[in-house]
Amino acid sequence: MSVQKAADTPLAIDVEPSSYLTRMPLYVFAWLDELKAAARAKGQTYIDLGIGSPNLPIPEPVQSAIREQFNGNQQSAYPPFVSTQNFRQAVVDWMQRRFGVGLNPETEVLTLSGSKEGLAQLAIAYVTAGGLSIVPDIYYPVHSRATWMMGGEVFHVPITEENGFLPVLEDIPEEVAKRARLFYVNYPNNPTGAVADLGYYRELVAFCRQHHIILASDMAYCEMTFDGYKAPSVLEVEGAKSLAIEYYSFSKSFSMAGCRLGFAVGNAEIIHAVYSCRTNMGYGTPRSIQEGGAVALNNAETFVEPMVRAYEGRRKVISEGFSSLGWTVPLYPATMYVWLKVPDGFTSESWTCYLLDKAGVVVTPGHAFGQGGNGFFRISLVADEAVLQQAVDRIRQAGITFTSTPQ
Ligand SMILES: Cc1ncc(COP(=O)(O)O)c(C=O)c1O
Repeated sequence: MSVQKAADTPLAIDVEPSSYLTRMPLYVFAWLDELKAAARAKGQTYIDLGIGSPNLPIPEPVQSAIREQFNGNQQSAYPPFVSTQNFRQAVVDWMQRRFGVGLNPETEVLTLSGSKEGLAQLAIAYVTAGGLSIVPDIYYPVHSRATWMMGGEVFHVPITEENGFLPVLEDIPEEVAKRARLFYVNYPNNPTGAVADLGYYRELVAFCRQHHIILASDMAYCEMTFDGYKAPSVLEVEGAKSLAIEYYSFSKSFSMAGCRLGFAVGNAEIIHAVYSCRTNMGYGTPRSIQEGGAVALNNAETFVEPMVRAYEGRRKVISEGFSSLGWTVPLYPATMYVWLKVPDGFTSESWTCYLLDKAGVVVTPGHAFGQGGNGFFRISLVADEAVLQQAVDRIRQAGITFTSTPQ
């Protein structure tokens, strides 16, 4: 449920929310929540493949580490602003093992209560009113919204299947590049599943160096990759640490979305600026959760493998199912999503409503990820294979195919 604008307790004083907030485009996931609530109110049941909230269990050793710490210190004291020693060391060790990237645990690592807030805090730290960030369009909402919240402007670079969903840097006007403070990218990409290789990251780092732009790389899906593909880190590029910050999340790799845990690594000054935001606005992340995170990273290879296998199986069910219904299913080697075109005659929004109404299946409309997502929808692989098969069967039974869909 989203929080409704309270008509029953109108504000009796003449104060409006910030125009930065009220001008914000509709948050489509909140709209989707309302759509589902309306369906439930009508007694309709549905299979929810909308939000990317994992349904796999947190690895047991991670759960016990959290439990042990939680019982041990009772959580009565505020957690420290700085990351716990164990967590920092686990991050440094994992980044070295996984990418060959060396980090200073004292200055180049920061725990986050989920990567989303850290992505936003970067804009708070660097964007002033009228400032500008560059964001690919299609994008994870906070990449643009954080800049808008600060009264800044976003220059959206279109990304399409033709260019592998990678921004064409030559298409960014010189005056935009000159003004920009931040450039957000996200590979493996939500929602498309597209990936970036080291060659592309090299170009991106050179572009950001030339124009004095901070590069923010969102790696939320870096471990959710298939067919032997391994996602690189932008920090593997020589000199990247002089201008980049990279964000990692435990939500997907270790199914810990409810624990709210992530971290940022990279340039020490940028890390410090985000840290300053955190100290001014909140507190550290609970120690127990950080201890669980350390166990997760120290055993990442063991925990990630079964997770990847589970999503691979799910992806196969959806790809075969939608192919049999007439869709062309482009399969990129990453993420827990499948990104598909809506049939002719629909917008992303009308298709989402139609699919819920006629087949009882909830998907995310593509425009949740910006203008570039119009005409597409996203399926999240957040249910077991049997349930995903049921979703495909429901759509088939409703007589819906890509080319001929009853109105
Ligand atoms: C691309 C991307 N970045 C960041 C996040 C947020 O992750 P966290 O749960 O760590 O805040 C998500 C969540 O869906 C995401 O898709």
